[in-house]
Amino acid sequence: MNERAEQQPDTLSSQTPGGPRHVAIIMDGNGRWATMRGRPRLFGHHAGAKRVREVVEACPDVGVEYLTIFAFSTENWKRTQVEVAGLMSLFRRYIAKETRALGENGVRVRFIGDRVRLDDKLIKLMNDLETATEHNERVHLTIALNYGGRDEVARATKRLAQDVADGRLDPVDVDEETLPRYLDTYVLPDPDLVIRTSGEARISNFLLWQSAYAEYEFIDTLWPDFTREEFARLCASFGGRDRRFGAVKT
Ligand code: FPP
Repeated sequence: MNERAEQQPDTLSSQTPGGPRHVAIIMDGNGRWATMRGRPRLFGHHAGAKRVREVVEACPDVGVEYLTIFAFSTENWKRTQVEVAGLMSLFRRYIAKETRALGENGVRVRFIGDRVRLDDKLIKLMNDLETATEHNERVHLTIALNYGGRDEVARATKRLAQDVADGRLDPVDVDEETLPRYLDTYVLPDPDLVIRTSGEARISNFLLWQSAYAEYEFIDTLWPDFTREEFARLCASFGGRDRRFGAVKT
């Protein structure tokens, strides 16, 4: 088994008595928000970036230790060249601008997704931010960038198959705890709550394996209008849910 796969996540499936420990967010609606204001779509993405900071800062107040956000999917390359280039530029600027504040707020940043298609400058900024924040543990922020759940499972399977081919892993030992060790999220607990903004009720290839037992909240708010108050309300209402993980209450 490779070195990466040997590392044990602190938990593969978190169960929190109160609020969610790990919240994942599909930040949707930036384009519509901008169009409603007669502005280009990138205007909405810039407004959306401000909401990221607000929600990250709210995490400790609502007891959220892990926040995972969907910033760019493997399918988003199909958007216009202008929008893709604008988003990449926004990510570079966000990382450069937010590094200090993230560090000061005790935020540890990780990126998931396939970096191969990203430009060298952005990859360097991502690596540097991960290194600069690696000793923080107040909030674990994971940014999904060029991420797709199916792509992640395919990449994980390739590595697992290589370990079998090289004799490091016996197929007899493969069970449902094996594959997660090869996923991009191998050090993270599974999400407890997945929020999608903008009224669409689909998961769009986000954290497919990891969200098997997550609760979902599909809300109408467009991402640039999402507030820390709404985030707090959703986390509080999660606390009232009866999560059985497939079992029957005794
Ligand atoms: C989906 O809205 C949003 C995206 C594809 C980009 C998300 C990016 C941000 C919120 C920017 C900031 C992120 C970071 C990490 C700095 P959409 O454009 O599909 O909206 P629409 O459905 O209304 O068109």
